[in-house]
Amino acid sequence: MAMVVTKACDGCKYTDCVVVCPVECFHEGSTMLYIDPDVCIDCGACVPECPVEAIFYEDDVPDNQREYIQINRELAAVHPSITERKTPLCG
Ligand code: SF4
Ligand code: F3S
Repeated sequence: MAMVVTKACDGCKYTDCVVVCPVECFHEGSTMLYIDPDVCIDCGACVPECPVEAIFYEDDVPDNQREYIQINRELAAVHPSITERKTPLCG
């Protein structure tokens, strides 16, 4: 089990989430971030940090966004780690 970044992050990337993660499991794609589910320890620290509420516990991902569970797993593996806040794409 792990946290999952969902659609609200896409095109936004506030990156407030990355600075609180104790295990550096966020990875940066061109339009959104992905959490490596094999590294995430389910601490929950990132969830309240996201201004657009894009991060859900795996079991709580809305039905119409379940595909993001696999998207996070696959794309975290092929994108670089991000640990520092950046200027968001939106907002
Ligand atoms: Fe990182 Fe904790 Fe969020 Fe997992 S739940 S991504 S370990 S801050
Ligand atoms: Fe995305 Fe929210 Fe983090 S918009 S980059 S999940 S703070």
